[in-house]
This record gives sequence, C-alpha cells and structure tokens, in this order.
Amino acid sequence: MTLLGPSGCGKTTLLNLAAGFFSPDGGEILIDGERVNDVPTYKREIGMMFQNYALFPHMTVADNIAYGLRVRHVPRKERDRRVEEVLALVRLNGMAARKPRQLSGGQQQRVALARALVINPTVLLLDEPFSALDKNLRASMQVELREIQRKLQVTTIFVTHDQGEALSLSDRLAVMSEGRIRQLGTPEEIYRRPCDRFVASFVGDANVLRGRLDGLDGAEAIVALGTARVKVPAAPLRGVAPTAPVDLFVRPEQLRVVEADEACAASGIVAAQVYQGGHVDLYIDSEASSRDKLLVRSAGYDAMARWPIGAKVGVSISTDDAVAFAIP
Ligand SMILES: Nc1ncnc2c1ncn2[C@@H]1O[C@H](COP(=O)(O)OP(=O)(O)O)[C@@H](O)[C@H]1O
Ligand SMILES: [Mg+2]
Repeated sequence: MTLLGPSGCGKTTLLNLAAGFFSPDGGEILIDGERVNDVPTYKREIGMMFQNYALFPHMTVADNIAYGLRVRHVPRKERDRRVEEVLALVRLNGMAARKPRQLSGGQQQRVALARALVINPTVLLLDEPFSALDKNLRASMQVELREIQRKLQVTTIFVTHDQGEALSLSDRLAVMSEGRIRQLGTPEEIYRRPCDRFVASFVGDANVLRGRLDGLDGAEAIVALGTARVKVPAAPLRGVAPTAPVDLFVRPEQLRVVEADEACAASGIVAAQVYQGGHVDLYIDSEASSRDKLLVRSAGYDAMARWPIGAKVGVSISTDDAVAFAIP
C-alpha cells in the first residue's frame, strides 16, 4: 500500500501515527483488527525504514541488524540465526562483519531494510526509503523490495512523492493532498480513472482540453471537442448543464498528431520536439488547451521528421480512458 502525495501533505505524519510516535486527536488505528491507539511503539512490533536510515557507524552490519533483537532479549543463538537468514534475504551474505562505511549506498540501504525485517514485523513502514539513491540503484532496489515483500507477505506501507515509483510498486495506492486521501485504488484505477482534477494532474502527465458536454447517459457522458466525441465517466459531471464547457483530461500517449486538414479534436502548431530515446514528446500550441501546450507522446522517432517545428497539425484523441471535470 503506497501513500502518494506532494511534500507536506501528511504522509510522514500518517506513518508516525501508525508507528505510535504521534497520537491521534481522533479516530482509530488498527493493526490486524486490534485497536492500538494506546499501545506504545515498542509493543506494536513495527519494522521501519525512514528517509534518514542512520545505521550505527561503530557497529558491524550484523550488530546493526541484531540491535532490535537484543533490545527484545532474544537469546544469542536465535539472534544469530535470524540475522543470517535476513542477510541472505537482502543478499548481503558475507558482509556481516563489515562496518557501514565499508558498504556502498545500496548495500547500506539493504542493511537498513534487514534491520526493519529481522524482528518479523506486523507492519513494515517505509518512508521515501530510496529518495537518496541514484536512478539505476533506485530501480533495482524497487524490484528487490517488491520480491522480498512478496516472499514475506508482510503488510507494507510505502511512502513516496514519486508517482512512477508509486505506480510500479503498489497493489493499492492512496493519493493524498492537504491531509486527506483523495483517492484509494489500484495503480491502474488511479491512472485510468482519476476521481478529481488533483489526482488527474498529480499522477502521470495530463493534457487539459476545453470541450463541451454533449450528453449524459447512465454511467457514461460524451464530451465534444472539434469533430471528436469522447466517452468519459459520467460521475464527476453530475449537475453540469448540457452543452456546458468542461475540461477533458487526456494522457500524452492517448493523443495523436494528424494532418492539419483531417477531421480531429484540435488543431495547433508544433512548438517543440523532445527526443526521449524510446519515444518523442511533441509540444503543440493549441487554443484547445486549457493549460500549457499540448503534449503528444509518439513511439519511435519518426514523429521528429514528420512533424517539424512550426508545422500546422491536427490532434486526434484515441482512448476510452479520458476523464472530464466541470470548470471550477
Ligand atoms: N510535529 C508537528 N507538529 C505540527 N505540525 C507538523 C508536525 N510535523 C509535521 N507538521 C506539518 O504537518 C504537515 C504534514 O507534514 P508531513 O507529514 O511531514 O508531510 P509529508 O511527509 O507528506 O511531506 C506539514 O504542513 C508539516 O509542516
Ligand atoms: Mg515526509
């Protein structure tokens, strides 16, 4: 389960509540169905890895990991066995006697994870654990964490402000803003069916096109834009007058550039091209855009030569996943 939201929205506060460092003014905190509001942190058996996962620099890797077991008075033999087990799990066999400074950043990170896991926690709380790692290391740590988490089947709350990380790691995702959960769902539900403007803008790239409501029928509504008619969920548009203007949110990969004289949703002029390796981002100046330039993402690099800067083009929409919201 991931908490995703901009800095300051309350993610760390929520983890601190779950861990018992803060106590809530109201409401209940349940672990395995048991109310733990009045249970102190050390009795909640929570594994934690926070942004500043300070390891004890003077202790060996093994002692760092064993620390939580020692304070719980786990007997020596059992302690050694569990440390060895968890070292293997995070692939640090043979590193037990090293000091933290003799390890790379990624290895230190794995020690911190091992330290959180060794107590067999009821819940694992991870607060932006990878934000200090470089991109490649972060990606491999994400894959590794997911494997370990699946193997151990330990309930995990992961906090991030990085939407890519949230989409790729989570079974469930809660998008937060200003202390509230705006939407809770699978990554796919959140990406394909964002419930409001905030979620639609915060998760993934979105174009916002000014359209017009062209009919509401049960769960579906139709938004008209140029010659295009786009199907969207009706729920966010209840109460909007027929033919009223609405904002249509469309992902960059759901737009296509076409010849200027083709029937399409919008027209404009190519303002910039950005080569991204596997795809090309075209930025298009268009009156249909409610925000900035339209962003169209095309696979391959053919689009670079075909739609040069300054070209007059059309933009068509090909998706069943657009969403629309009333104009605020
Ligand atoms: N101990 C505290 N007392 C009062 N306000 C706090 C405290 N800790 C954090 N805050 C405020 O609560 C809000 C949420 O903070 P935080 O949970 O750290 O956000 P996030 O982790 O999502 O970046 C912020 O506005 C922050 O300034
Ligand atoms: Mg935080």
